[in-house]
Amino acid sequence: MDLGQLQETIKKIEAEVVSQLAEASDVDGVRTLDSSVLGKSGTLGSLVTSIKDYPPEQRGQVGKTLNEAKGRVKKLLTRRMAELDRAALDAETSAAAAFDRTLPGVAAPMGSVHPVTAVQWEIERSFERFGFTVEAGPEMEEEYNNFDALNIPPSHPARDMWDTFWLDNGKVLRTHTSPVQFRAMKKFGAPLRVISPGRCFRYETIDASHENTFHQVEGLVIDRDISIPNLIALARTLLMDVMQREVELRVRPGFFPFVEPGIEIDMNCQICAGKGCPTCKHSGWIEILPAGMVHPNVLAAGGIDAEVYTGFAFGLGLTRLAMMKYGIKDIRVLNQGDLRALVPPECVGGPLLASTTDDAHAALEG
Ligand code: FA5
Repeated sequence: MDLGQLQETIKKIEAEVVSQLAEASDVDGVRTLDSSVLGKSGTLGSLVTSIKDYPPEQRGQVGKTLNEAKGRVKKLLTRRMAELDRAALDAETSAAAAFDRTLPGVAAPMGSVHPVTAVQWEIERSFERFGFTVEAGPEMEEEYNNFDALNIPPSHPARDMWDTFWLDNGKVLRTHTSPVQFRAMKKFGAPLRVISPGRCFRYETIDASHENTFHQVEGLVIDRDISIPNLIALARTLLMDVMQREVELRVRPGFFPFVEPGIEIDMNCQICAGKGCPTCKHSGWIEILPAGMVHPNVLAAGGIDAEVYTGFAFGLGLTRLAMMKYGIKDIRVLNQGDLRALVPPECVGGPLLASTTDDAHAALEG
């Protein structure tokens, strides 16, 4: 093409650039246009390679014409780029100005502790006030600690009351937290005030108030001149403290080989207010706190002089206490995976939740 045609082509290219720039809505669009016009194989850039095709005396003029055209196009591109940059910044600034930082945030859903854990923590706090140590014991226990040290030799019929899971290594899944009595006596000697919350296991027929896996809290006090009235006073204080309301208690004789005398402290059923329901087997009462004076044989096994010291022990049914506190009618609900309907986080340690548990029970029954 001659010089005149070249200038005509350049004019068209520039006009095309102007119209495409007007349509470009963002910086990326301008960059694409830049390379499609000024790039080596771009509409303008590729014309540079044709300089050699012109007669030598015209090449200078052709080169100058092309360079000037490239300069003008570059200027157009740069200006448009700056305009679009500014517009984007303005949009960001006005969006930030429109943001209302006083609006409430989106609440993150929070989990909660298990109801049994919530009650366990309350019991621990309550007992710490009375100077008790909180001691843990193993769930997989020596047969001797679970039975023999508690005055239950192999031939004793009481072993039938606590049938459990026997393990290949000769140990048992403990049937109660009472072996911690023996462990604590061995570890601390007398005088002694200790509680031990934990999980227990029994080969058990499951119903509304019996599980094969449940929690107890063992309590043991050993000192001089300890007697049953101390035990009953402590039990009453503890239960009122946890329940945060007046509850009725009844005391009746009970048999456990590791105490003498033994008693059972029952609480009036909080599900039916003592009227009788499936949870309390229609008796109106829930067995919650068996206890008694520590048997001299148990003190002796623990290395404590029964001539000098006496003591009492109890085995609080922690899972059942959680049921009473939160109005949970069926113990099986507590071993389910999803307890949200039972105890919303804001209610842990709070009031009776009977009304909120109905959904969970309905799900269980349905
Ligand atoms: C005992 O386990 C004795 N070790 C308690 C004890 C300790 C007595 C110290 C004297 C001195 P018992 O088997 O009754 O006792 O269980 C104690 C409590 O655990 C019961 O009152 C009940 O509240 C709870 N419990 C027992 N079995 C189950 C079960 N299968 N599911 C849920 N809770 C249970």
